[in-house]
Amino acid sequence: MFRDQRLGGITLDGKRDGSTATLPEYVLEFLSSKEADRRIFEADLLVDRAHLIMLKEQGLVSAETCSRIIDVLDKLEERDLRVGNEEDVHEAIEKQVIALVGPEGGRMHTGRSRNDEVATCIRLAQRDQMLDLMNELISLIKTLLDLAGKNTETIIPGYTHTQHAQPTTLAHHLLAHADSYARDLERLKEAYMRVNQSPLGAAAFASTGFNINRQRTCQLLGFDGLVENSMDAVSTRDFILEVLSDLSILMVNLSRLAEEIILWSTSEFGYLELDNRFASTSSIMPQKKNPDTAELARGKTGSVIGSLVSALSICKALPMSYNRDLQEVTPHLWRGMDWARSTVRILNGCVSTLKFNKARLEESSASGFSTATELADSLVRITGMPFRIAHLIVGRIAASGHKPNLPELDTAAMEFAGFRPSEHGFSVEILEKALDPRSNVALRSNTGGPAPTETKRMVSDRLTTIDEEKDRISEMRSRVDNALDALKNMR
Ligand code: ARG
Repeated sequence: MFRDQRLGGITLDGKRDGSTATLPEYVLEFLSSKEADRRIFEADLLVDRAHLIMLKEQGLVSAETCSRIIDVLDKLEERDLRVGNEEDVHEAIEKQVIALVGPEGGRMHTGRSRNDEVATCIRLAQRDQMLDLMNELISLIKTLLDLAGKNTETIIPGYTHTQHAQPTTLAHHLLAHADSYARDLERLKEAYMRVNQSPLGAAAFASTGFNINRQRTCQLLGFDGLVENSMDAVSTRDFILEVLSDLSILMVNLSRLAEEIILWSTSEFGYLELDNRFASTSSIMPQKKNPDTAELARGKTGSVIGSLVSALSICKALPMSYNRDLQEVTPHLWRGMDWARSTVRILNGCVSTLKFNKARLEESSASGFSTATELADSLVRITGMPFRIAHLIVGRIAASGHKPNLPELDTAAMEFAGFRPSEHGFSVEILEKALDPRSNVALRSNTGGPAPTETKRMVSDRLTTIDEEKDRISEMRSRVDNALDALKNMR
């Protein structure tokens, strides 16, 4: 029921470690979060600073003790302290503080628990990584928009079911990817608001009887608000689940681009070539140029989804409030963040150096009778027949497998419509135009369509929006940096 003091914890001379030593090595190893805690070392020092300043302002520690402890925190920051055989970074730092300050250092943990401490640290480190990721994502979106801007006239085959469907342009295609990443950015930005909330001051879960000021630590650490209920504050990891969900969706979107790069670089497609910097060769087949970067981007998607599923499974059915299981969630967050960020970065480099084979793309855009829809549309426009009948006529001549001619069209039309289009103003010129991929594209100038007028407009709108997004992310970053810079100067 009750713990024997000899079993662990921090002693007052800070040096003696007789306590934890009684825990067998393999048990300590099992309990430890040292590895994942590397990511929250700096965050923990910040949390210590904010908590101390607040304790001093509330009259709960003296100004002298506060500044002596902060001097030690400064030193620890420089030294980039390595965790010894402590359970976690929080314990390791506190031990050092006590060793260097003396028993007065033991006041740092007044009105606080590792439970609110760790939740706060994760949120601090996570928001930082989210800002970096969002900036990387903006770069990728810009790369795609720039490339789209240069390719509004580049005709390519468009697909449904991976079958030639209708001609479109490279700009239209790249814009589609860019728009999905813009939504990913939006999702991350919204999640950021929920990540950047302070659980600090919740203590173990039931708050504390000391007269602390949670709003003050929230402000000192640059949080936007409190995770108010102290039980919720220490026990929720839904901010991690949300971000891992967003990352999984992002990765699924990225994997679609990766897949196309892989497919389009095959000799069967021959639409593009990767720059040597983003490809590898085979150890046995000297001619090979393999799209390994895109393949790993596709593969890491599985890993990020795995992180989400792991985190969800760990959190499922955990009773209130803090449970040690939660420690097991954190490494999945760090890995998911790392993989997503490196994938965005790699694909950005890969896309910005791709060489497209425009001649091959254009040639391929007409194959597979991909202009059939426009031919049916033209029959409707010129002769006034219902679209379903035009669809039947064109479907009949498509089966022949060769380029359609007017007499063939007339014969098929007699069967389904009972008249010859050539006798109702449907000329060879109209037929040729309907079969030309470039005029197909030019006609599709409705909102969101592939016509160059429309794709140019979309590129320019999105370039403006993405610059505004970049400014917004910079503002979010400065707000955080300003708070933390001020905090680091406080004694
Ligand atoms: N290393 C722990 C974690 O990541 C810190 C909190 C430990 N709390 C506790 N009551 N043992 O969750």
